[in-house]
Parts: sequence; C-alpha cells; structure tokens
Amino acid sequence: MKLYNLKDHNEQVSFSQAVKQGLGSQQGLFFPLELPEFELTDIDAMLEMDFVSRSSKILSAYIGDEIAPHQLAERVKTAFAFPAPVAKVSDDISCLELFHGPTLAFKDFGGRFMAQMLSYVSGADEQITILTATSGDTGAAVAHAFYGMENVRVVILYPQGKISPLQEKLFCTLGGNIETIAIDGDFDACQALVKQAFDDEELKKAIGLNSANSINISRLLAQICYYFEAVAQLPQEKRNQLVVSVPSGNFGDLTAGLLAKSLGLPIKRFIAATNANDTVPRFLQGGSWTPNATVATLSNAMDVSQPNNWPRVEELFRRKTWRLTDLAYGAVSDDTTEATMRELAEIGYISEPHAAIAYRLLRDQLQEGEFGLFLGTAHPAKFKESVEAILGQALPLPQELADRAGLPLLSHTMPADFAPLRAFLLKA
Ligand SMILES: Cc1ncc(COP(=O)(O)O)c(C=O)c1O
Repeated sequence: MKLYNLKDHNEQVSFSQAVKQGLGSQQGLFFPLELPEFELTDIDAMLEMDFVSRSSKILSAYIGDEIAPHQLAERVKTAFAFPAPVAKVSDDISCLELFHGPTLAFKDFGGRFMAQMLSYVSGADEQITILTATSGDTGAAVAHAFYGMENVRVVILYPQGKISPLQEKLFCTLGGNIETIAIDGDFDACQALVKQAFDDEELKKAIGLNSANSINISRLLAQICYYFEAVAQLPQEKRNQLVVSVPSGNFGDLTAGLLAKSLGLPIKRFIAATNANDTVPRFLQGGSWTPNATVATLSNAMDVSQPNNWPRVEELFRRKTWRLTDLAYGAVSDDTTEATMRELAEIGYISEPHAAIAYRLLRDQLQEGEFGLFLGTAHPAKFKESVEAILGQALPLPQELADRAGLPLLSHTMPADFAPLRAFLLKA
C-alpha cells in the first residue's frame, strides 16, 4: 500500500512507514494512493462473513501484500475481540454501539488495531516506548490497546487529582508493560513534558519513542470495518435506503465511513453531526472555512473547531468526484442535546451526549422509506455525571469499570520536571 502526504504529493510512503511515522512533512496527513472498490457480488458475500474474516478482507484490500493475509487475520482477531452490535431504537432507527470494548468507546477499535500494526511493523527485536499525556480517556484506550504486548513499553502521564477516580482506575491498575505517572501539575504540564521528551533526540533513539498518534492511518482503516459490520446486521430491505449519522469532532469516524462507501458499501447518505463547534456545518452551508474559538459543550470530545481529518474528507470527495453538497450536516446545541437524551430515554434507550447529537439530526432529516443508523461512540457510563443529572436516574456501572474499581492504583508520582521523567524513561 502506498500513501501520499496531502501537503506534498511527492512524499510517498509504504503502509509500514505511515504507521511508524504517523504524519508526513509539514504535519501533512497520509492518504491512500489507490482507492480499492469491491464488486457488488463481493460486497454481498462479505456481508455474510463473520466480523473478523470480513474485516481482514477489507483491511487487506487497502494494505495489500505488506502483511500476509493470515498474519493480518491473526492481528485483526486480537484487536477486534469484542462485538459492535446494532441496537434497535425505533422502527426506522438503530444505533451502532461501538462501546463494548475494554475502554467502552469506539477508540478501542482503532487503538487496538494500531497497536497490532505498530508492533508488527516494528520488527521482533526493536523496543518501542509509547509516551503519551492524557486528560482521561486517551490514556485508557492506549493502555488497554498495548497491554501485554512484547517489546512495547507504555508510559502515560496524567495530572494528579484532575481526572475522575474511575478514569484513573481504568488504566492505572493494569501493571505489566503499562506504567502510569501522576504528575503534580495540570494537563498542559503533562503535554509539555511529552513534547520535551520528543525533542530530546538522544532519549528518542535510546528508547524508541513513538507517539501512537490519533491521526495514524491504521486507526482510520480499522474504523471502516464497523460500518460493514453494521450493514451486515441489517435485514436486506433496509440496506439500500441507509442513512448514517456520525457524531463528529476531528472527523476521523466520518472519514472512515466515507472510505467504507468508497469500497462499495451501500450507504445512501451521511450526516456530519456536530455540537456548537460548527466549522464544518457552516462551511457546507455554502459558507467559508472560518473556525471560531472552540466552545465547551456537553459533548466535550467533539469540542473541536479545526477538525484535523477534514483534509482527508475533502481529498476523498475530490478523488471520487463526489459532491460535497451531498454530505448532510447539522449542529446541535446543548439544550437540544439534553432534550434529545430525555426523548431517547422515554422510548427506552439510554444514551450520552455525543450519540444523542447524531440521533437528533437523523430523526429530523430521515425521509419516508429510509432507514437510519447513528453511531454510539461511548458508553453512557463514561459520561455518568452528566447523563445522571440530565435523566434524573442512576446508571449502573458496566462490568469493565466495576471490575477495576476495587483494584489498587499502581501509579508513580512525579513533579512536573523533565529530569526525573527522563531518568525514569531511561531506566531498563
Ligand atoms: C465519544 C466520542 N464521540 C465522538 C467523537 C468524535 O469522533 P471524531 O473525532 O472521529 O470525529 C469522539 C472523539 O474523540 C468521542 O470521544
């Protein structure tokens, strides 16, 4: 598989290089040179396959011969070890629940597949150290994705006392190759320490530093697979009238959905659903690209005003000669998000703010005869405080969290200074 840098089309790299590098020069995103397409009969046959076999075929179509099919299938099986069920919400709308993985969010798919790919392309005797700062969620996804992998050491920094106790339990109780450090400082201080480490060439080389960046192409490819899984679970008559609504922040999930359509998956229309951070909806309305200052909302994982995957969306539309005017969109306020969560609870579906935004626009825009699917990107319990306050009811803790809640924390503590962190990273 060849990929090119969207900022410099002459910079072309293999899949392995793109996975290791993350970004190209000038912080440019990598994009596939070839856009494979399946025949309709292939798609029909694939929709009959199990999740892992089908996903291996999809990923193989992009990755090509850089990874032998049986090796890829093994890695996919390890990464996608949990289901992505489609749950009925009403007669014409269902939710693709992407929160049944170890950290209860859609990131488990991309994160775990990236971990598998990174370890595969790094070679057997190459030691990698993943260093990341987290304000809560990313740390958990990275920790669980790399947990137990040989030759990979994960070090996660987080601001002491500034993440929720449950978030802390989720990734600071693992041990093994996962080391967590509570920094006496805020999230910015943690990020600054990570940056200092990446600027230290000697350290970088000595410990094989890698960032496991969220922009990594392997994450996007993994996310394509669950759109196929959703269609596979729908009855035949609903498959050809399908509208998919995607709660969007950095637009990675929407990019993956569009890549699924580009492979031939029958999706009639996508809805790009945002909160008040509405750069894309305003742009699609015929306006210009004018990001406002980011505002804090209930759906805080989507508080992004300069979505970093948008150049990939535009490139795909250009390459496929699709029209951006065919991309549906909308922005939902916090008040409407709250009202929608209550509306969903009344019809028997407990949701959280991100998914509720996608549902709202789908409900409002779905036409007669169409079938709607929205992405459930996180378990409601991940937003326990706001969900409980809005719905006025207590949420039971899901098993993954309940299991960890009683375990002791294994974190180190450290001041927000680079010297002790450097020494820690260099210790064998
Ligand atoms: C719960 C949740 N929903 C939706 C999104 C938006 O996804 P994307 O950034 O791929 O648009 C995120 C992003 O982190 C998220 O955490």
